[in-house]
Amino acid sequence: MRVHCKYFHIFRYLLSFFAGSSFIVKKSINIMLTPFLLPALLLTALAATAKSLTLKPECQPSCGGGVDVPYPFGIGPGCYRPGFEIKCIGNMTILGNSTSQYQVLSLAVTPRPEAKVMLPVAYRCYSPDDKVTHAYDGGVDFNSAGVYRISNTGNELIILGCNTLIFTAGGPSGRHRFAYYAGCVAYANDSKSVQDGACAGVGCCHVNIPPGLTDNSMRFAGGGVWSHANQTFCPCDFAFIAVKDYYNFSAADLDITTIGRKLPMLLDWAMRDNGRSSLTCAEAASMPEYTCVSDHSECVNSNNGPGYVCNCTGGYEGNPYLPNGCTNIDECARPRDQFPCNGVCDDTEGSYDCKCPPGYHSNGDPKENPCNPTFPLQARIAIGIGLCVFFLVVALLLAFIMHQKKKLAENFEMNGGNILKRVTGLTIFTEKELNKITQNNSECLGNGYFGKVYKGTLPDVNETVVAVKSFIKVDDERIEEFTEEVMIQLKMNHPNVLKLMGCCLQLDVPMLVYEFAANGSLSDILHINKRQKLSAELRLDIAIRSAKGLSYMHSQDIRHGDVKPDNILLNDKLIPKISDFGLSKLLNLGEKISQKVVGCEGYMDPVFRNTGLLTPKSDVYSFGVVLLELISRKQLVYGQSGSLVIEFRHIYETEQSGRSMFDEEIVTEENIMILEEMGKLAVKCLKEHQDGRPEMAEVAEQLVKLRKNTMEDDRSY
Ligand SMILES: *[C@@H]1O[C@H](CO)[C@@H](O)[C@H](O)[C@H]1NC(C)=O
Ligand SMILES: *[C@@H]1O[C@H](CO)[C@@H](O)[C@H](O)[C@H]1NC(C)=O
Ligand SMILES: *[C@@H]1O[C@H](CO)[C@@H](O)[C@H](O)[C@H]1NC(C)=O
Repeated sequence: MRVHCKYFHIFRYLLSFFAGSSFIVKKSINIMLTPFLLPALLLTALAATAKSLTLKPECQPSCGGGVDVPYPFGIGPGCYRPGFEIKCIGNMTILGNSTSQYQVLSLAVTPRPEAKVMLPVAYRCYSPDDKVTHAYDGGVDFNSAGVYRISNTGNELIILGCNTLIFTAGGPSGRHRFAYYAGCVAYANDSKSVQDGACAGVGCCHVNIPPGLTDNSMRFAGGGVWSHANQTFCPCDFAFIAVKDYYNFSAADLDITTIGRKLPMLLDWAMRDNGRSSLTCAEAASMPEYTCVSDHSECVNSNNGPGYVCNCTGGYEGNPYLPNGCTNIDECARPRDQFPCNGVCDDTEGSYDCKCPPGYHSNGDPKENPCNPTFPLQARIAIGIGLCVFFLVVALLLAFIMHQKKKLAENFEMNGGNILKRVTGLTIFTEKELNKITQNNSECLGNGYFGKVYKGTLPDVNETVVAVKSFIKVDDERIEEFTEEVMIQLKMNHPNVLKLMGCCLQLDVPMLVYEFAANGSLSDILHINKRQKLSAELRLDIAIRSAKGLSYMHSQDIRHGDVKPDNILLNDKLIPKISDFGLSKLLNLGEKISQKVVGCEGYMDPVFRNTGLLTPKSDVYSFGVVLLELISRKQLVYGQSGSLVIEFRHIYETEQSGRSMFDEEIVTEENIMILEEMGKLAVKCLKEHQDGRPEMAEVAEQLVKLRKNTMEDDRSY
């Protein structure tokens, strides 16, 4: 029992699975489930009404023997149309009058008006000397009102005998008494020549009958050639009309015992107006007795004899002889071979719709043509795969974007964003904004300490040009130094100190945005790629302003730590800007980077190198070297092995003048004094002992004084 239940569930599961994949099954399930209670009741009610409508109300539906009696037939007064009375004997259904009565097997109104009745066979038996001993010609009296015709399409005439011609006749008189005659000859040489099942002239013949027959009455030919003398093996002839293919010949039926046998025969019936001159549909429609009274009914001329019959019009069924007798057919509930539909069936009043389900189409009417998927299987698979791939790509894209966002946020935090976002005056750019500023790093200015430097434009009204530098990788250990460094740089507000405009913290490495120095570094214009003519006056201006910048830094308690021409940048007006200050502190944290610092050793204060202690005087030393470069336009190490500092010191000590090392380009009478003074100051800055070196402010002051004394214009810095 349990096992059965389990399998039943599996079966139900399978059914529901297939229901999902096949529209036909689905539809039929819908039909079963959706119109649940009320429509079901309605259907039952309809069926009941349809049944009751085949009769007149309060008439007996049958004699109880299983034969329905639909109107115009009826049992009892007022229940039948004249000519269509049915009687009951016991529970037997009877057609006829008080003297001749015939059992009825069925009475049909639609699709054909038919009645099936049992009629006795006609016979004639002979003695050996050819005398008739028994006879009955089959004439019956069921047709007093003339409503019946023997169905020519549903019956055949059968004759049994061994030297016999029998025929039937009917219809109006014409050349002869009747319009129609039909019969055949049965002959048998002896009893051995007849065969069971073979009704083809030997002992048995059969023939189709003409329309218009009103009676079963048979005419027997006898005497002469049709003599039955000495025919003891075959004493009787029999004739009967029976339902086609109903009778199966047997040699034993030639015996006299066949007398009294009855066989079923089909009768057509029609409205023949009770014997009065018969009417066609056109004539009958205006008569009071016109009997096609139901809505959706029509009149059809009888095709067996005169008169008319009624029929429900297409899409309706029932009894057209009763008011409201024709009812709508629910074609969808009928077998598909009756009302074909290859798609989804929908009943309508008097008809039905048939449409292909969504996703299917047919070439023509789906009632006749199959519904095929609009997209073939391959296309659906392809679309399916396409959609899968699409969603996969979208999912991956989303995941990637999320990851990027997370990365940006992580970087932001790693780069001290949480501290720096609270710092007033610091513009923090997002990665997107930065990419817009640098136009995706489209213009590279060169290499900084930690990577490339890109040119950019801020989205402000002035379209301020900026340089964007990558910074050192910040980790947990460096985060404090980095944020401090940014804050220090932000605080620096001096025309000769490179201004920090903002930063971006969403990348792996923080990016710093600085004001742009169009002319590159002092090193560039002195020695390298942008080398240009530089007057002594300009060199002095650069020296003064650089000293002012450094001096300002020292006044803010900041040491540069890496003063050299590379770190003095020049804007479009050749105004110097001190850059990359405070870096060395960070540089020393990363071991790799510290080697780079070693490369700049020539500028490094020997005291700082020995003690590792960075003081303002260390910057003064380095600035001394810068001064030497300005006046000599020589690099730290020049020629074969010339060391600028050592050589200059040497020359200065021996000659009390640096003249031999001055840049030839600017050695003139007016300039010589400026150059000598700058040289002298440089030597002071380069003193071994820090105590011997001037403060940065003093250096600036002396340079300004020198300019005032030698130049006419009175420029202020
Ligand atoms: C016809 O019947 C006669 C007499 O019964 C018989 O002698 C004869 O053989 C039969 N002929 C055939 C062809 O069966
Ligand atoms: C019938 O048979 C008998 C004897 O065989 C014969 O005398 C008689 O003439 C036959 N009758 C007919 C009508 O042929
Ligand atoms: C009545 O109508 C049905 C369907 O339209 C048809 O099949 C049938 O032959 C008709 N009957 C007569 C008697 O015309």
